[in-house]
Parts: sequence; C-alpha cells; structure tokens
Amino acid sequence: MKNITIAIDGFSSTGKSTVAKQIAKHLGYVYVDSGAMYRAVTYYAMTHGFINTNNFNVDGLIANLDDITISFKFNPTLGFAEVYLNNINIEKDIRTLEVSKFVSRVAEISEVRQKLVEQQQQMGNSGGVVMDGRDIGTVVFPDAELKLFMTASAETRAKRRYAELLERGERVTYQDVLKNVEERDYIDTNREDSPLIKAKDAIQIDNSNMSLQEQFDEILKLVNRTLENS
Ligand code: DC
Repeated sequence: MKNITIAIDGFSSTGKSTVAKQIAKHLGYVYVDSGAMYRAVTYYAMTHGFINTNNFNVDGLIANLDDITISFKFNPTLGFAEVYLNNINIEKDIRTLEVSKFVSRVAEISEVRQKLVEQQQQMGNSGGVVMDGRDIGTVVFPDAELKLFMTASAETRAKRRYAELLERGERVTYQDVLKNVEERDYIDTNREDSPLIKAKDAIQIDNSNMSLQEQFDEILKLVNRTLENS
C-alpha cells in the first residue's frame, strides 16, 4: 500500500497533535510536530537573550539561525519523538506558557520559516508521515493526499490547554491561557508569511463537541478512504 502524507492544520490547542500521534501509531507512520520546531527556535531565542518581555532582537536571532539544530528522537516509553535543540532534550521546556507567549512572534519571521519548512519537507519527502501545524497543507506539503483543518471554540481550546498546564504543575490562570490562545489565533492568521488558512482541499473538523474516540474514528475513516483511493 502506498505511503501517503497527512497534513493536519488548525488553531492552537485544537488537539491536532493528539490525533496526529494516534493516526501515526495506527499506520506505523512518522509523526512530526512542526509547532515544536517553532517552539524550539523560541526557546533558543529566550535562553540566548534575543527575546524577553521588553525586547525582541529579531536581527540577532536571524544572524544566529545557523547555530540552531533541531532534531527529533523517538522515545519508546512515551511512544512519540521528543524534540532536541543542539542535541539537548527540550521537550518539556518548550511546552510552558512562557514559550507560548513568544512563539507566534518568532513564527512570523520569514527566515525562521524558510529554515524550518526546508527541514520539514526533507523529513516528509518519502511519505508515510503525519505532520501537524499551521501551514502544512498550504506550504509544506501542498500535494499531501489528505489535509485536515481542525477547529474548536477559543473557550474549549483554552480549557483544554489550561488543564494540561495545571497537570504539568504550571501556575497559570484560565484567563491568561484564554488570552494567549486568542492572541496566537490573531497573529497566526494575520501574519504576512504563510498565515493560518484552510487549504482549499482540506476537510474541516470542528471537535468542540467530540470525544477523543469520536474524533479518532472520524479521522480514521477519512484516512482509510484516502488510502483506498491512492
Ligand atoms: O502547534 P503549537 O501550538 O505548538 O505551535 C506553536 C506556534 O508555532 C503557533 O502559535 C504558530 C507557530 N507554528 C507555525 O507558525 N507554523 C507551523 N507549521 C506550526 C506552528
């Protein structure tokens, strides 16, 4: 059977990565979390003094992009690949609200996007990949055999993200998380380079009222149909 490419785009905290991991596991495909790569560059910028609450040295970050190597290594215990920055595991460090606050600003930079898109295309060039993000079906893999576009209300997404952050022991308020979700929606959809939009041939899935199982079943049907027709 042909190895297809599955592109899953959508707003932040729509559960893209959860279902992408499930589908990749089911098919024995590679899962790539493209958002983790933007988060890794953001984490680099934060830990090297290029970005903080008062200052963002865009030129400094761009000048140092060659110093950034992002890789993924499969963790068999977790069942998915963790992200490494210059060979250091930063999987946990990139999931904080602090990184979320800056990441959309970093993802606006064309030089950053160019570097990461190139790497993403290489990772998926032989098919058999499920990649999630904001521009996967539009820019990274415009010829992907299956494109999904996930949505849910901002409140639903903020509730999910808030629960996740609390579980990880972060001290945050729901209002802060909701504000971050809304701000990222705005920046991600309004930026000049590769804004978040639904590809014409993407199938939209609103999972506000779906359980994880219902979402998986619905998407698996679409995957199987695509495989039959490929
Ligand atoms: O999927 P995520 O929330 O971890 O992504 C973090 C940010 O990275 C998101 O706010 C926008 C940016 N991003 C992007 O611009 N393009 C992608 N393909 C993936 C993420």
